[in-house]
Amino acid sequence: MGLTFEMEPKTPFGGSLSTLAVIDVASSAIVRKPAALGWEEAAGLPLVGLTAKTTLSEPLLRLPPSEGDSQQTIVVLGGSSGVGQYVVQLGKAAGLRVIATCSATSEHFVRSLGADEVIDYTAGSVLESLRVVKPAQGFVTIVDCVGGTELLDDLPALLTPKTDSFPHGGSYTTIVGDKTDRSTLGGAMLLDTDRTMRARQDASQAGSLPYRYACILLDMNAEWLADLAARAADGRLKVPIDSTYAFEQAREAYERLGTARAKGKVVVEVQAAT
Ligand SMILES: NC(=O)c1ccc[n+]([C@@H]2O[C@H](COP(=O)([O-])OP(=O)(O)OC[C@H]3O[C@@H](n4cnc5c(N)ncnc54)[C@H](OP(=O)(O)O)[C@@H]3O)[C@@H](O)[C@H]2O)c1
Repeated sequence: MGLTFEMEPKTPFGGSLSTLAVIDVASSAIVRKPAALGWEEAAGLPLVGLTAKTTLSEPLLRLPPSEGDSQQTIVVLGGSSGVGQYVVQLGKAAGLRVIATCSATSEHFVRSLGADEVIDYTAGSVLESLRVVKPAQGFVTIVDCVGGTELLDDLPALLTPKTDSFPHGGSYTTIVGDKTDRSTLGGAMLLDTDRTMRARQDASQAGSLPYRYACILLDMNAEWLADLAARAADGRLKVPIDSTYAFEQAREAYERLGTARAKGKVVVEVQAAT
């Protein structure tokens, strides 16, 4: 199993809906599929699992010195989204307290993944709800899997502040960026064209923001992928599959994806699994 990503495909074999792929092993995360892991799960795990793992790893997530037995708290915006499901699970597995946003219809699902608290983003202001549940030391990270700017002005009050004992401060990590429109590419691609986001990220890197901001692309880390696959194979990590389509139904698969209502991965069988 593996994940490849080519910004500028050099071969006619780019894309994942193909029976043959040319893979540059130097820039890809390639690991052996554990026997106990199904093919659908193996197909569904890499992109979202590695993106989630990236958001919860250094340098993006740094934990302040613990105070007593209080748990560090993270927020996942879009806990039911493709990546958000894994941020919730990996956050819990790392011993963090997880607060996730989703609609009421997804609450049971997101709690089943381990979320300690759920905020219904359709029922009122997410910012107001976060102000209410914020721990005294602030959130150590907010991982944004939906996009938008709603929380940005209030991050200094929401995130763990920079102090002498914790000079990093809390982080806001987005995999989407300021846009919410699903028809345009987001994530780190937006940094090339969006000056406001670029200026914010530059200011964060220069240390002149009171918190850390990053709009990121996943890290192609084969060790992480092997670990995620092992967890999925022995049941420590759930790999929700929304639906599976035959290759001939690829159009329907994309239509399902376009609804933004899929709970888990939409899988296309390029070749029927044997
Ligand atoms: N940077 C990267 O490396 C990277 C990697 C993967 C994906 N992405 C990006 O991540 C974005 C999400 O992709 P995806 O495939 O994960 O999406 P998705 O699974 O299709 O997301 C749909 C989910 O988003 C939830 N949602 C929609 N609006 C929300 C809001 N305002 N607050 C909270 N939840 C909300 C919905 O929850 P309910 O059903 O509960 O309403 C739905 O479950 C895309 O823009 C994609 O390009 C980036």
